[in-house]
Amino acid sequence: MSREILRTKTFVADAANFIVDLARKALAERNEFRIALSGGNTPRPVYTELARIGRDLPWEKTLITFGDERCVPPDDEQSNYHMACQALFMPANVPEKSVMQMRGEIDPQIAAQEYQDGVDLLATQRGEQIYRHDLILLGLGDDGHTASLFPGTAALEEIIRRVVANFVPKLNTWRLTFTLPLINHARHVCFLVNAAKHADLIERVLKGDLKYPASRVNPDLGKLTWILGEN
Ligand code: 6PG
Repeated sequence: MSREILRTKTFVADAANFIVDLARKALAERNEFRIALSGGNTPRPVYTELARIGRDLPWEKTLITFGDERCVPPDDEQSNYHMACQALFMPANVPEKSVMQMRGEIDPQIAAQEYQDGVDLLATQRGEQIYRHDLILLGLGDDGHTASLFPGTAALEEIIRRVVANFVPKLNTWRLTFTLPLINHARHVCFLVNAAKHADLIERVLKGDLKYPASRVNPDLGKLTWILGEN
């Protein structure tokens, strides 16, 4: 695994350009771009910028998955799918067939199994054991969680399944999330983080403190990039 750290005062532009560059590379090599979106607040302006500079990307050749989802309906303000629709899918006219929504509105266990079946089908159709994303975007929570892999939760210890439902006691709620086996199988993983918010935590994670789930993201045969927005 190779790792690069980009500290930037033009976070949104640099992150959006990073994604477009990887998209063009994947499309040139495999005529397809497989990206998993992260949720929360940090990526929203990046997706808006991506919709602006990436309007001419062949979105019909892009497969968009979600690294995690809240267990809420798709029109809920808390939904990562809802945020991505507003910031990216609608402005960039991304076709529905390019987006795989995690169904937060149904039973979490069923939704996780359904999503894992979908990802596994994509892998089988491409002759892969485990679906290999070209790019998985991740965020960093203030407890060092990433996707919905929270400290001390069962999903963090999952070594076989690709997608699970994960109960998060601190939030008293269920989440749907990629597991480390799926995340670490990506060609490229990129953390998008507001460094001003998490300066100390970032340093501890970068030093590999395994107390923090984000420290366990190490793509086996891929690259890891941290894009850190600085004021
Ligand atoms: C989610 C995310 C989560 C997020 C971090 C950071 O569904 O909330 O996937 O892992 O990336 O909590 O969130 P902010 O970008 O809002 O700080």
